[in-house]
Amino acid sequence: MPAIIEYDPFAAEVNENPYPYYAWLRGEHPVYHNERLDLWALSRYRDVDAALRNIEVFSSAQGIGPERMSIPTMITRDPPGHRRLRSLVSKAFTPRMVAQMEGRIRQIIRHLLDAAVDSGSFDLVHDVAEPLPVIVIAEMLGVDPEHRAAFKRWSDDTIGVLGGSPNFDLNRYLRTWQEFKVYFTEMAERRRREPRDDLVSALVRTQEEQDALTPGEILNFILLLLVAGNETTTNLITNGALALLEHRDDATILRERPDLIPSAVEECLRYDSPVQATFRTTTAPVEIRGATIPAGAKVMMLYGSANRDAEIFEDPDRFRVDRNPNDHLAFAIGIHYCLGAPLARLEGKLALEEVLDRMKNIRLDLAGRRTRLDNPMFRGLKTLPLLFDRP
Ligand code: HEM
Repeated sequence: MPAIIEYDPFAAEVNENPYPYYAWLRGEHPVYHNERLDLWALSRYRDVDAALRNIEVFSSAQGIGPERMSIPTMITRDPPGHRRLRSLVSKAFTPRMVAQMEGRIRQIIRHLLDAAVDSGSFDLVHDVAEPLPVIVIAEMLGVDPEHRAAFKRWSDDTIGVLGGSPNFDLNRYLRTWQEFKVYFTEMAERRRREPRDDLVSALVRTQEEQDALTPGEILNFILLLLVAGNETTTNLITNGALALLEHRDDATILRERPDLIPSAVEECLRYDSPVQATFRTTTAPVEIRGATIPAGAKVMMLYGSANRDAEIFEDPDRFRVDRNPNDHLAFAIGIHYCLGAPLARLEGKLALEEVLDRMKNIRLDLAGRRTRLDNPMFRGLKTLPLLFDRP
């Protein structure tokens, strides 16, 4: 590899393998400024951790992506607006509600795997990692079965827009948003009259609280769940499977010691983090390690790099399913710590358990194409064709 002279998060070679670039940043430019792109990057664990906790200076209000724009949800709010939204939705989206889903999530995974086994060919992304989180969130919200296909389309379109898809079609998106809005507004109305045991009913119930969620805020929160929860979980399952396929000894350990699966999920999150980075915008000049970041700067929080920092993790480039401690930043830290972390962990654990249990001798299909997502914030694959022996 030629000597690194620049970190450009949008470059194809960085997208393919960002880790040598992160090592260069951590070692030589921990507070990095790319003048050409006018963006800053923090790559060491302690700096990312401190910046995420310093919410007065590192603001989310101008969006957590590279552009200066944001959809109005709690992920792009600073306190006090963030505190209000987070405490209201946390009453509806609870760890208990997630834990109750375990049996159903396992059933969905088995169903998806059975269909793949029957068809004889298997693309982990297309057959399991992509549909699973969409089905789970649709069921949690209470979307009725005849609208599941439309829900999947709304979700794909929304992610296409926010993921910066080159095929983005504004008119199509506006139609999608309109359909989405009509469906969930009517659904919220119905749940207000006749509550059920689902997330939309729970969100509507929070409207009885003081300073309640408005109908628009409920819609935006549902939209946020689609954007924040689907592709990220897909990437966890895919990156995790790839890491295990490339570290066969660890996969063997897991087959013998399934009790290590939760720790393996943490290691997958650390080793090849589904969310590699988000951005903050500085509200005032700030000095870090002798460098001054000016006010109004876009600063990348490089989770993917922080999670490979040797100051925190022993032998950080090594994948170890039994790593302990493992205080990674894959779900961020501080006030925006991922609200869906318990759900993502559960889906990751169940997917690993079921794949290891039901598919023997899984291996990469070297004849198949393996394509990467092209996005500096999300790391994952568009396809991961696998071969396996029938159980
Ligand atoms: C492996 C899967 C996931 C990863 C790696 C992940 C990662 C993250 C990260 C890094 C943040 C902080 C963003 C920032 O402020 O910079 C975040 C926030 C958030 N995540 Fe996740 N996420 C995952 C799954 C989910 C799921 C399944 C849901 C819900 C269904 C979800 C909902 C949210 C929400 C609502 C926030 C905003 C929290 C706030 O602003 O207070 N995430 N996630």
